[in-house]
Amino acid sequence: MNFETICVSPDDELNFKAAVRALQEGEVVGMPTETVYGLGADARNPEAVKKIYEAKGRPSDNPLIVHVSSKEMINSLVSEITPIAHVLIDAFMPGPITIVMKKSDVIPSCVSAGLDTVGIRFPIHPIAQKLIDMSGVPIAAPSANLSGSPSPTKAEHVMKDMHGRIPYIVDGGECQVGLESTVVDATGEWPVVLRPGAITIDDMEEALAMAGMTKPVKVTNKSGIILEGAEEGISTGTEVLLAQNNAGIPEVAEDETPRAPGMKYRHYAPSCPVKIVGDKTGDDFDNYFVYYKQEVMQALISGDTPIGLFVGEEIAENLKTLFANKNEEIIYYIYGATEDVDEASHHLFDGLRTLDELRVRMIVTPAFPEKGLGIAYMNRLFKAASEGEAPLELKTDRKIMFVCSGNTCRSPMAEAIFRSVFRATGPHTMIADPEKEAKVEACSAGTFAENGAEYTRYTVDLAGYEYEEDLTQGRSRIVTDDLINQQDLVLCMTADHSRYLRTKYPDMGDRIFSLQEIIDHFSIPNLDGEVQDPYGYEYLVYMETAKQLDGIIRELMPEILKSWGMN
Ligand code: TXA
Ligand code: MG
Repeated sequence: MNFETICVSPDDELNFKAAVRALQEGEVVGMPTETVYGLGADARNPEAVKKIYEAKGRPSDNPLIVHVSSKEMINSLVSEITPIAHVLIDAFMPGPITIVMKKSDVIPSCVSAGLDTVGIRFPIHPIAQKLIDMSGVPIAAPSANLSGSPSPTKAEHVMKDMHGRIPYIVDGGECQVGLESTVVDATGEWPVVLRPGAITIDDMEEALAMAGMTKPVKVTNKSGIILEGAEEGISTGTEVLLAQNNAGIPEVAEDETPRAPGMKYRHYAPSCPVKIVGDKTGDDFDNYFVYYKQEVMQALISGDTPIGLFVGEEIAENLKTLFANKNEEIIYYIYGATEDVDEASHHLFDGLRTLDELRVRMIVTPAFPEKGLGIAYMNRLFKAASEGEAPLELKTDRKIMFVCSGNTCRSPMAEAIFRSVFRATGPHTMIADPEKEAKVEACSAGTFAENGAEYTRYTVDLAGYEYEEDLTQGRSRIVTDDLINQQDLVLCMTADHSRYLRTKYPDMGDRIFSLQEIIDHFSIPNLDGEVQDPYGYEYLVYMETAKQLDGIIRELMPEILKSWGMN
């Protein structure tokens, strides 16, 4: 990953073709869309997809959207198009929407992050369409920002983040929308909005109504739980999201949400505080001048300057008159007419980036009423304003739990092998601070375990003889939510176990994986992760099981440790 990144003007035919070729050959290309720039690669090619995450600077932990340039292209990528998906496709594609459908086998699991669905997006941006068309490949692409930066809305943003990491960036000018697409799950009977965007809940309701479908669009959190107040009968989605905002940030899918083992990513937030002024529940723009004035006065008095204002034209003009001699202390980023939510959304990420780079002490931003595009705008603004999670906290203790059915054979064996391999490959330290020792505690449990039962004889023997692990005192226990809650990572012997646990504990789904899922997640080739139960078989079968687990754990451990900031 050491490229001389070329920023290609779309008129530069030679380089444009080279970018197309790069895509065909499994390289990553920065691509404009009407929402934000994407980091694109051939969605059918796992090696290419892996490079996206190398460029982005974090492990693949989140499903990727697949971009197409025609409705026909969708057919081979999905295995089912529900009636509502049909309506949404007809109404909004091409456009700033991502429709989640059941995936076909064409989509590798590194794209879907182990899910059986895929998000399909048909951008309306002509250059995006041309890139996809000419390369002839469906393009998997997340937003083209480094982890921890806001989504890029200009080619220069992509250059800043991706310089040296990818061979080409195609410059398509400034993105028209400026916020990422609406993500809507259309696998069920009714759409579920996972991330608000420029295609609004109202837009969708209208399209569905026109097609003779009248139920409201529901809003859920990432675990698929319908949020309070989102029952049928509520006619607009606006209230639904507001209800959630009372608690802070609307809980919707976001690319920085952790799905990786115990990893917490920071949402984009500037290095300075972001203050939201005004009333998100209604229009009181008449008062906004007063709010801005107060913030500026306060900054001037306390010496917390320069202060950055993401501000509308009219207000900026009045402030400039009032604080005429304070040009050094007040930095204006004017997004457009004060009440124009389209312009505010369009410029939000650029405004935050720009003011942040100027090292202002605080950024003041306007609230917009949470309706229409205002829902998406406030959603992104809340994330920027919240302090978010620490970038990669230096947590030196981690916990991992292995799960099988009875917790008498496979999972205790895995626990013992993990400890033994950890010992043998150690000492492990923190990547960010090699002075600090990294500790991982392993344990096990079973989905249907009988609490207090002894481990099977062969398990205990094998752990003792082969791994110097004394399991004689170990006893079976059943998985509980408490137990899962204490873990950074829960690894199950089969996909049945992980599915079962995720269904039972939806809130903890982000830390539960099967061994195969985590193998796919880290794109480790040629490793069989489904571990069958040796219970009732002879010692030789137990040894085979141990050998399989040993192989898996040895391959997985470095990846898992890395994701925890350990090595
Ligand atoms: O506007 C956009 O959507 C941009 C441009 C480049 O197309 N892309 C983008 O991708 O924002 P990304 O990866 O930064 O965000 C995609 C979001 C994530 O929150 C992800 O969890 C969600 O979409 N997503 C993707 N596939 C999904 C699936 N199968 N089920 C649920 N959520 C999915
Ligand atoms: Mg993103």
